Amino acid sequence: MKYGYFDDKNMEYVITTPTTPLPWINYLGSDEFFSLISNTCGGYSFYKDAKLLRLTRYRYNNVPTDTGGKYYYIKDGDTVWNPGWQPTKTPLDSYECRHGLGYSRFHSSKNEIEASLLCFVPQKDSCEINKLTLTNKSNQAKELTLFSFVEWCLWNADDDMKNFQRNLSTGEVEIEGSVIYHKTEYRERRNHYAIFSVNSPIDGFDTSRDDFLGPYRGFDSPVAVESGKCTGSIASGWSPIASHEINITLAPGESREFIFLLGYIENPKEEKFTEPGIINKARAYDLIQRYQTSEQVDKALADLQEYWQKLLSRYQVHSANDKVNRMVNIWNQYQCMVTFNMSRSASYYESGIGRGMGFRDSCQDLLGFVHLIPERARERIIDIASTQFEDGSAYHQYQPLTKRGNSDIGSGFNDDPLWLIACTSAYVRETGDTSILTETVPFENDWDKAAPLMEHLKRSLNFTITHKGPHGLPLIGRADWNDCLNLNCFSEHPGESFQTYGPSEGPVAESVFIAGMFVKYGEEYAQLAELMGDHDEAARARSEVATMYNAVLNYGWDGEWFLRAYDAYGNKVGSKECEEGQIYIEPQGFCVLAGIGVKEGLAQKALKSVKEKLDTKYGIMILQPAYTRYHLELGEITSYPPGYKENAGIFCHNNPWVSIAETVVGNGNRAFEIYSKTCPAYVEEFSEIHRTEPYVYSQMIAGADAPRHGEAKNSWLTGTAAWTFVNISQYILGLRPTHSGLMIDPCVPEGFGDFCLERYYRGTNYHIQVKNPSNVQKGVKEVIVDGEVIEGNIIPIVDRKDVFVEVIMG
Ligand code: BGC
Ligand code: NOJ
Repeated sequence: MKYGYFDDKNMEYVITTPTTPLPWINYLGSDEFFSLISNTCGGYSFYKDAKLLRLTRYRYNNVPTDTGGKYYYIKDGDTVWNPGWQPTKTPLDSYECRHGLGYSRFHSSKNEIEASLLCFVPQKDSCEINKLTLTNKSNQAKELTLFSFVEWCLWNADDDMKNFQRNLSTGEVEIEGSVIYHKTEYRERRNHYAIFSVNSPIDGFDTSRDDFLGPYRGFDSPVAVESGKCTGSIASGWSPIASHEINITLAPGESREFIFLLGYIENPKEEKFTEPGIINKARAYDLIQRYQTSEQVDKALADLQEYWQKLLSRYQVHSANDKVNRMVNIWNQYQCMVTFNMSRSASYYESGIGRGMGFRDSCQDLLGFVHLIPERARERIIDIASTQFEDGSAYHQYQPLTKRGNSDIGSGFNDDPLWLIACTSAYVRETGDTSILTETVPFENDWDKAAPLMEHLKRSLNFTITHKGPHGLPLIGRADWNDCLNLNCFSEHPGESFQTYGPSEGPVAESVFIAGMFVKYGEEYAQLAELMGDHDEAARARSEVATMYNAVLNYGWDGEWFLRAYDAYGNKVGSKECEEGQIYIEPQGFCVLAGIGVKEGLAQKALKSVKEKLDTKYGIMILQPAYTRYHLELGEITSYPPGYKENAGIFCHNNPWVSIAETVVGNGNRAFEIYSKTCPAYVEEFSEIHRTEPYVYSQMIAGADAPRHGEAKNSWLTGTAAWTFVNISQYILGLRPTHSGLMIDPCVPEGFGDFCLERYYRGTNYHIQVKNPSNVQKGVKEVIVDGEVIEGNIIPIVDRKDVFVEVIMG
């Protein structure tokens, strides 16, 4: 069952009922000011950091769900309704929410009044614009009262929901004309404030939540709205809000437009205050002036749309498969950009006060957006590398505002260092910019300890080389990619919960997954060393890779699939010998995509085992059989009920690893089958089961052991976005950046047909026509570049604006 449809032409998902199974959200903002907005106008806004500079309040896990947002109440006689349905939930005569790229639109109507609400964050300013248009479709004049509403958050979102003894006494506001200023904490010289304004005169206002709502009332029935009149309250402590009241008369057929602006203003540090508490309003006036008229707003929206169009044009496919086209051309790339902006901080599942930027998360996210924003990817790599320790290990997380490593969490996740090689290699293959490798980058943000980026990568590699266990496989540390596989927590902290994690190192527990990573990224490191002219270093890396490859074959193979790990006692994890958790997905996907066991015929066996033991109609589960009891020696993974999260859930992130692995062995049918099982455009058909947004990936889908098999959670902020994009764009459609040009090597299902790719790469627009006359799954017979047949399948880098390529598969 669907709750809407894709409008590919407008690059929108159109939701046709407000009662979606879960709130379906969108993100506004692309630089510093961000908003989350749901299909019923729920959500919140923040500036740069969702924890420290939260503008509006949002209560997670609230009842009813998703209440709290930017609301417009329309009072028409005795009827009060909202264009986004919530919070009054008055049945609407029509409703539609269109989530587009960086904007959302609502169109609804009630009793012959039409409302159209456009919400977006303009590109260059720190504000959200809400343009509301009301039209009288009846043949009588209508008297309406419009009430706006936002509830301020007292900046630090964490403190805001717990430190009530203080924060119920700090709220301060000021009203001037149609502008409501939120000044809480300004007197402490925090030097920033927020505004909520409208481009029309107002007939009243409220700034105290309790006066606006009335005692014991919710957002669904504010007393002010019910009585048709704001109270003119001035908040003093408690909960400040901003509400404008506007009385409107609409003649038959008449439309009126209101531009509301929620803005963040920060005065430069050097600016002196004359009197604490008196705000400098000049910047607010300036900002408001830029969005006074419809023309200004429309222009800002057009700029935003042009920005997205241009950005996404860097990779486009035109095939006979609409679902692939819409995912590749619009939604998958869009989600990759959202993970760039948000990492894992703010979604409807991440509260914005929890995690900072993850080291491994950010490195992997980069694989999905490096072709879109290479300059910002470069900065990101330097930021990430700056948090690395001198021994090559890494802070697991860092703070987006300070860009410093988070010492509460610390290091010890032994996969982290290798992801730095992964993202740097992707950046250099995309851009050819080797200058990044010689750039001096600090360790632990300390410039007294600094070295060229290439040296950081060397320390990453050496970290694995110098941290191996009894079988010559990498030590796992606290965990590897699978955060919940805590193999060292039992040995030194018996009885303690996984939450404390284990010690950062244990001399025995080893990870076959990290071994797979080492083989893949060790080779990519060797290629970078070669680019730098250091052939000895490349040879050293390759010989270490060969050693690791053999260690996997000798000690990481279980007979029908790759083992997952050895625990702190040296016992196998992910083996047929285990009572539960006999096969895990990660080493099957990653070892094979790294090329391990392909020539020995083991790769094919491993993939067959995945299909037999882990596959479901909703995707491939992370492990089987699910753990039915808690295993202290395995940690958090066994804390989940069977079928959820890391305990046998379908972790969407590593499904593409298996799909890529299938392309490595040339199985286009199976690669595509895996791709389509978790692909939003396919999943849309059964949204009532899947429940999260059908236009983006979720982190996890409940596995076969769970009562709610097929139900997804944790949409938007997941490494799945990047890896599925890598899979479809580079392996299935097969256009892969290399150091010497674009390799074209598709691996498609039978019947996929011919297709075209448009790719902007190193200053050139490549127009690539792929023909598949004999309907093969893999294999390139001929590549013709600007009329000339080339040798091999790497389209060379040229100094021309446009290059036309014809590729014949066969
Ligand atoms: C989750 C993991 C996540 C980790 C982050 C765990 O509870 O299951 O998916 O990576 O928390 O710290
Ligand atoms: C989510 C985390 O963000 C990611 O870093 C981790 O790899 C997966 N969960 C698997 O545990």
